Amino acid sequence: MSKRILVTAALPYANGPIHLGHMLEHTQVDVFVRGHRLAGNDAIFLCADDTHGTAIEVNAAKRGITPEELVRQSAEQHVRDFKDFLVHHDHYGSTNSDTNRRWAETFYEKARAAGHIFQKDVEQMFDHKAGRFLPDRYIKGTCPVCKSPDQYGDSCEKCGRTYDPRDLIDPKSVLTGEKPVSRNSIHYFYDLPKNEAPLRAWLDSAGSVQGEVRNFAETWLKEGLKPWDISRDGPYFGFRIPGEKDKYFYVWLDAPIGYVSATDEWCARSGRKLEEFWGKDSTAELYHFIGKDILYFHILFWPALLHDAGFRKPDAVHAHGMLTANGEKLSKSRGTFINARTYLDQLPPELFRYYLCSKFSPRLEDLDLNFDDFIGRVNGELVNNLTNLFSRSMQIVTGKLGGRIPRLADVTDAAARDVVLAFERDGLPEVGRLYTEREYGLAIRKVLDLSDYVNKYIQDKAPWALLKTDPAAAAQVLSIALNAGKLVAVAMHPVLPRFADLVARMFKLHDGPGEWRPLIARDGKADLGGETEYGPFVRLFERVEKKHIESLVAATHAEAGAAPPVTTPTTTAAAAAPPKKKKEEKKGEAEPPALIGIEDFGKLDLRVGLVKEANLVEGADKLLRLTVDLGPLGMKNVFAGIRKSYAPADMVGKRVVVLANLAPRQMKFGLSEAMVLAADDGELCRVIQPAGDVAPGNKVR
Ligand code: MSP
Ligand code: ZN
Repeated sequence: MSKRILVTAALPYANGPIHLGHMLEHTQVDVFVRGHRLAGNDAIFLCADDTHGTAIEVNAAKRGITPEELVRQSAEQHVRDFKDFLVHHDHYGSTNSDTNRRWAETFYEKARAAGHIFQKDVEQMFDHKAGRFLPDRYIKGTCPVCKSPDQYGDSCEKCGRTYDPRDLIDPKSVLTGEKPVSRNSIHYFYDLPKNEAPLRAWLDSAGSVQGEVRNFAETWLKEGLKPWDISRDGPYFGFRIPGEKDKYFYVWLDAPIGYVSATDEWCARSGRKLEEFWGKDSTAELYHFIGKDILYFHILFWPALLHDAGFRKPDAVHAHGMLTANGEKLSKSRGTFINARTYLDQLPPELFRYYLCSKFSPRLEDLDLNFDDFIGRVNGELVNNLTNLFSRSMQIVTGKLGGRIPRLADVTDAAARDVVLAFERDGLPEVGRLYTEREYGLAIRKVLDLSDYVNKYIQDKAPWALLKTDPAAAAQVLSIALNAGKLVAVAMHPVLPRFADLVARMFKLHDGPGEWRPLIARDGKADLGGETEYGPFVRLFERVEKKHIESLVAATHAEAGAAPPVTTPTTTAAAAAPPKKKKEEKKGEAEPPALIGIEDFGKLDLRVGLVKEANLVEGADKLLRLTVDLGPLGMKNVFAGIRKSYAPADMVGKRVVVLANLAPRQMKFGLSEAMVLAADDGELCRVIQPAGDVAPGNKVR
């Protein structure tokens, strides 16, 4: 019977861009959810931005915008990054929403009603000049243990010891450089020890946490649970505690409640009921995926809050290890703290998805992005094995056989046919099961085995030679190849959704332009052959080379200096482009984008614009600031990465083509409200102009 399953990923902080570490988690969940769908279950994937806390407040102030604006910009970028990484969230909410405020207050009231909230006087470091209490990370000084200078208020990066910020030698506020002083204030606490019994019961229930996690939990329980400080004094960006003037819920209180709010919002949209997923009698399955760094919150605080609120607890909290690069922690200085957008500017998302999945296990160990291994796997497995299966066979089928192959039932080589049918019958369900058990590496191995077999089969039978002597026999070989290929695409769909779509397109498994269903919506049958004409062949994966990785690391280095907390916007095509040389190298090899329907094109509001003003931009040697007249749409301010080919005076009076409905982006230098189209070969850049005089604002189609 089909199961209903709700899955969440941890809510990324709105305070910074999505990076490859986040992508590890979201890819893991995306594949899990798609795998469940492959196995016939009704699974949904919910997430949200985690928006509260001191850092957001401070950073927004630094940039001269409200925290709400920062959070909005961040969400926009996060959503785009996930989408471009082919991660499908059924809903992506925000913890700074009315829904979440309502639920945070409800959870708080329930905990209070249960007698689990109390107040206590707390001594904390205060910055007089900034007029605020300082979180430990906002205090720096000399380590009291090893005497290393410039260490954080809570721990030393040199000797690894943790300590009380009051013990730091010569402490300074990171915000003002002032010496912080100790000050008292009343805080609210959540009385975690009171819920020890239900927590133990939940932790003991089968499957709730992985074995290694249970060991952590044992240790924490043995050390004794402690009350949890859940309030912060203003100024703070968060929800005010009911009945208080200047006290707010600590960000970690309302963050997990975001899981419930996201469900609530998705239910409202989909005509479903929240109780179906979170009610005490819910029969749906509920899974949280998180990194091992935030276990304490998810296996102790969160189940305790759920308990008080009268909600069910998750069936399991699945923790994963951290992404490392070449055996070390992701690091800005080594250029390995790679933002999702930086990666996407250089390489197709599926390469990284594939690499991660081929190495995933359901355990807690870290997953290492080893650059040589990455190149090896992509070229050896994705290109030489998977892509090869399609490129060899499709080229013959479309080139020599008019796109046609016989049905599998008409293939006389029973042994080969049985391999394909066995995969259809046993292989696919097995692969689906492995995905739902988070054994992605094993799932992929099974698919590669089939693909390997077929590649060898093609090699042995040499259909290109057979064509001359026995074209019918050659066509049968290709029926084996394409039918196996279809199953390969179905089985790989959770990991490689775009690849599966491209294959589906080659196999005419779509319902017409714009509304074609993904291959996966079909039945996973080896049923190709007969009258349908397959093709044309489309390119799937291209080889990666060391220079691609080098360019990724270089781009990461380049950003590390200037990047504001929210990722640098990709406002102009040219400004967003990778460094010159790399771009050229990429050009011939990049995967061609998927076909789009006319309605996708229709979403672009392209207009003729007349450049009224052009100026240099201080601090940005690639940009010009243009004021563009769009007729009825008014004047727009555009930052265009065209400085290398145009002086400001060249641009004034030029008619250009503008993407007018690109969401405005806040750049370091000001707001960019549109994009000017240009052809850029890496060296030279030429703006696109209408061939004759056309009124500003005229539509381009
Ligand atoms: N906002 C909190 C989570 C609140 S959940 C109610 C948070 N945000 S985070 O942006 O720092 O991290 C979000 C998730 O990404 C966490 O599960 C974290 O473990 C994961 N990762 C962050 N860096 C990572 C790696 N380098 N590798 C793998 N996952 C990593 O924590
Ligand atoms: Zn130290």
